[in-house]
Amino acid sequence: MHILTRNKLTFVVFGILFLVSCSSNQNTTTTTNNNAPQDLIVSEGFKNPIGFYDATPSFSWKLPQNKNVKKQTAYSIVGASNPELLPDNADLWESGKIESDQTLFVKYKGKKLSSRQKVYWQLKFWDQDKKTSDWSEVANFELGLLNNSDWKAKWISLPKVDKEKAPKTNKKSYKVQYLRKDFTIDSKIASARLYITAKGLFEAEINGKKVGDDVMAPGWTPYNKRIETLTYDALDHLQKGTNAIGIALAEGWYGGRLMLRGYPKVSPKVMCQLEVKYTNGEVQTFITDESWTATQDGPIVYAGIYDGEQYDARKEQKAWSTKTFNDTSWQKVIAEDIDATIKLTPKRHNTVKSVQELVPISITEIDKGVVIFDMGQNMVGVPRIKVPMHKEGTLKIRFAEMLQQDGRMYTKNYRGAVSTDYYTAKEDGQIAYQPTFTFHGFRYVELSGFDVSATPDKSWVTGIVQHSDYKLNLEFSSSHKKLNQLQSNIIWGLRGNTLDIPTDCPQRDERAGWTGDAQVIAPTSFFIGDVHSFWMSWLESLRNDQDEDGAVPVMVPSLGGRLKAGAGWSDVITIVPWETYLRTGDVGVLEENYTSMKKWVGFYQSKAKNHIVKMFTHGDWLQPYSTHERDERFGVTSNKLIITAYYARSVYLTSQTAKVLGYQAEAKQYELLFDAICDVFQEQFFDTQGRIIEGPETQTAYLLPLAFDLLDQELVQKAVPHLLEQIKLTDNHLRTGFLGTPLLPLVLDKIGETDLMYEILFKETYPSWFYSINQGATTMWERWNSYTIKDGFNKGGMNSFNHYAYGAIGRWMYERIAGIKSTKVGFKEIEIAPIPGGPLTSAAATYNSPYGKVSSSWKLVGKQFHLEIKVPPNTTAQVLVPGNTQEGIEVNGVEFEDNSDVKLLSKTKEAFVLKVTPGAYSFKTNY
Ligand code: BGC
Repeated sequence: MHILTRNKLTFVVFGILFLVSCSSNQNTTTTTNNNAPQDLIVSEGFKNPIGFYDATPSFSWKLPQNKNVKKQTAYSIVGASNPELLPDNADLWESGKIESDQTLFVKYKGKKLSSRQKVYWQLKFWDQDKKTSDWSEVANFELGLLNNSDWKAKWISLPKVDKEKAPKTNKKSYKVQYLRKDFTIDSKIASARLYITAKGLFEAEINGKKVGDDVMAPGWTPYNKRIETLTYDALDHLQKGTNAIGIALAEGWYGGRLMLRGYPKVSPKVMCQLEVKYTNGEVQTFITDESWTATQDGPIVYAGIYDGEQYDARKEQKAWSTKTFNDTSWQKVIAEDIDATIKLTPKRHNTVKSVQELVPISITEIDKGVVIFDMGQNMVGVPRIKVPMHKEGTLKIRFAEMLQQDGRMYTKNYRGAVSTDYYTAKEDGQIAYQPTFTFHGFRYVELSGFDVSATPDKSWVTGIVQHSDYKLNLEFSSSHKKLNQLQSNIIWGLRGNTLDIPTDCPQRDERAGWTGDAQVIAPTSFFIGDVHSFWMSWLESLRNDQDEDGAVPVMVPSLGGRLKAGAGWSDVITIVPWETYLRTGDVGVLEENYTSMKKWVGFYQSKAKNHIVKMFTHGDWLQPYSTHERDERFGVTSNKLIITAYYARSVYLTSQTAKVLGYQAEAKQYELLFDAICDVFQEQFFDTQGRIIEGPETQTAYLLPLAFDLLDQELVQKAVPHLLEQIKLTDNHLRTGFLGTPLLPLVLDKIGETDLMYEILFKETYPSWFYSINQGATTMWERWNSYTIKDGFNKGGMNSFNHYAYGAIGRWMYERIAGIKSTKVGFKEIEIAPIPGGPLTSAAATYNSPYGKVSSSWKLVGKQFHLEIKVPPNTTAQVLVPGNTQEGIEVNGVEFEDNSDVKLLSKTKEAFVLKVTPGAYSFKTNY
């Protein structure tokens, strides 16, 4: 066993890629020239964005991944207002030749940029031999409306919008408003941009055609502080002469009921500004104002986040967003000026889109005329329905994540969310319907009310998967079926809970930005998707919602309630920026959040007496076998211990951040504070034998200080056996809740107990990851036993079948099982160190790091260990190849000898430690 000291136990640094495709309407630039820099992106991974949010962007690129390119020694970037000026006559920026290996987040230092401005840019680099590459292809970005003063438009809506109850319930949602306006284009158009947003949700059409392919736009931010705006290229929608624009507007997160908050006293509004540039250089702007008309008597009767949507085809207003429509029966709208205190900013992460379609794996007629469709996968989004109906008939569409034991829909876990859609047909025949302004978390769809003379068919329902449109970027596979299922469940868990913001769950009457759940999944999320901008945007919401006194709400966007803050939850403000920095290499995330981190630490300090803090915490939430006297959902680990541990952690991360940003004096101050908290922590919570003396001994009580490096080396050595004893007492099962579970693999790794971690991970009995899989899980569950084949649904409530927190094990699977880990921020230095264990005979993963693809694929072949890896240019990697180091190692098919690409650094008892330059390698050892 390998013990490290507090000082030496520096937090595991491992980083990762991002590379996000941006919002709608972008062209992609992929260079075909394999000598030039590739994948040119701005800021947090945006490719040729329009409506971009950042007037001081940064630039990133990748070097071509071929055997000639090992690293960059210099670069030159040029930027211009017109692509024809590039590369020689750049009028906005010429970086000149910069001697540097930096390929990530190079800050723009050209002329000041303003709203609407378009910048074209390209670059070249010099390689390890000082050879110049070709110029890259030209990339571009176009700024959106950056200031409130850029908006001439007004918020519009009907003077009074009614609410409608979902059938047979008392749950009300606003009726959907339809707003429209005709306008005239009388010259030849060069370009056109539609800038648009809503207090609510919008869908816009111009001349009868939907603009863009976003759903649930503009998304969810703290609307009283910041509303994100969207930009669309409207050129292809417009024609000379009369045009029409129409907008459907629903309540969404802004105007609908949400947990704790209930029904807000606001109603939905929309605002848009269509700017048309003519070939003669003139610009004409069409805006939302008093001249628009509106109705609430359209086909979408109501729509709510929790309660679903009702569509009445008899109310369709044919061609309402075209110039032929007669709107004389529609009402005049009211218009309001924009609020000076609410910032309108271009959306800074990917919009929600329909990203995948699932077809049912089976259908069951549970009663005459009632059919259940099994999508085979618990998913989030909406169904697309194509079903025969009779005129005036109403189709009822119900959803469920699970079935009851009698095969009927189980909806109890939706709690107060009605989550049902309705469709009324206007004529006999096949209808086609897909809800617009709601979403559901479901595996099963139940239809009733269709034409019962027809034979139910799988083609009636398609599952439309929706979430923020980041690129999924990880390939992980292994020789073990259940481990692969776990990987799939983690991915689906993340996808289902990243619908514009990180949520606890996507189905019941919560779907809220619970901060604790977010901080535990964040590290893993980077392995699964290009989530850099996703987190950056939500972090801005965190800052928006942080109180003056530094308190960070337990849900963001905040829904109010009596909880001001909570340890382990609110620490998201220090943890997520730091984790994002480690994985992307983006210092910008630390710059943006440092002040908020300090404020949060200040909040702790204001509640501390001799470094022990009085604060609320949800504790080690949903710890299995909790004997909590009041509420079994709370774990039994001492709250005082948890709060103090997180206080120390936030102080530590703030000190690290100060260091990176060059605030040395502040860094020192926070380091001293951290040390002081650690001293008190040891004294208060441990005896001299390393045993917990505050509250019951639990796995989590030991994991927190060991993971956060709160103990002196001597005490670490004494505490570790107590942790192992706690694990042994449970027959090597976990006994950890939301806070402890993600720390278990990190700590067992640190103390050299990977075999034990393998054993815990591969357990089939409760509580364990495979236990839920054995009960049929296709996503991560809120509890390991939310449902069991033997006993049915957990009686304790909190039975979400799509809760990503326990998916935090994903990080260990990629870092340890596949063995891909960043050891210098953003993957500048990589460690490839797979650890075979448990019943595994092979595992493989490929990861799109900021520098390019990293891969590791290993298998046991007889008595040999085979490893194949790929290391991207401009990085270095240390490879630990397991094997009998008394014997030799084969590299690329020949007996190893030191050469310019591969050097043997050392041999441990179990592994050869090699240093390699970028490239592809294979290794074989006797094992
Ligand atoms: C949510 C959790 C959340 C918790 C706070 C629950 O209702 O679903 O995931 O973190 O409340 O304890």
